[in-house]
Amino acid sequence: MLLYIYIITTFLALLAAGNVEKTIFLGPSPLAIPALNPALEDLELERLSSENGRLRTKLNASFPTTDGLGATSWYFLENLYPGQRYEVRICWLATQPTDFTLKTYTLPEILEDRSLLSSVSIYSSARLSAAHQSQKTVSRNRRSTSQDAATSDSVLFLQIVATADYFSLDQALMKDVPPILADIILDPFLGNVFPKSLVPTACWVGVVAVMAVFVARWVSEEFGRLMNSMDTRSSVEEKKEI
Ligand SMILES: *[C@@H]1O[C@H](CO)[C@@H](O)[C@H](O)[C@H]1NC(C)=O
Repeated sequence: MLLYIYIITTFLALLAAGNVEKTIFLGPSPLAIPALNPALEDLELERLSSENGRLRTKLNASFPTTDGLGATSWYFLENLYPGQRYEVRICWLATQPTDFTLKTYTLPEILEDRSLLSSVSIYSSARLSAAHQSQKTVSRNRRSTSQDAATSDSVLFLQIVATADYFSLDQALMKDVPPILADIILDPFLGNVFPKSLVPTACWVGVVAVMAVFVARWVSEEFGRLMNSMDTRSSVEEKKEI
């Protein structure tokens, strides 16, 4: 039953948001902060955390290349609860047809894989140089708690690959894919079953389901009564005829 409601709510959320792609994962076991601190501060990836789980951003997209899919973006998930089930959703407008692939990696996975590591650093330096050129400072949503208070943290890297999925007669559109405006949402599951932000929808669906049961019962009772009264009337008429 829970699973059934979850499927319905996911479906409703899909209808509401236009396009949604997501990945589900568990919070990893915490890592000691001093070990990962310097490298992560330099990367300046945009961050999502349990407290701050929503980010509006623009992602680069591209048509599939010969050596792989579209453009890759990286985000940093922090302050997760170890063992807690989460989902990350990305919502974008249906007017920008794009295929997204979402995947999470732990810090050791990134450090051990050269291609992942170089992908993260290429993304990071492209972002930093773009920020430099436009004379804007990269927004640093640094951790709210003081550094020395937190000795370890449950963190993940989020990889988003955006592949353009359209055909246009406009040469410029086929050459340069415009960046995709999207919302990235980190959502913990309540009791590891429901995504938290879908609970209002789930309650609403529950209310409708309960009402439907009552209406169905009422209809069948009324129908039964009608049938009974018809039965008695016809038997009375039969008696009269006798
Ligand atoms: C996004 O694409 C533009 C144009 O191709 C490029 O200049 C920029 O560095 C890219 N940004 C990132 C973060 O890759």
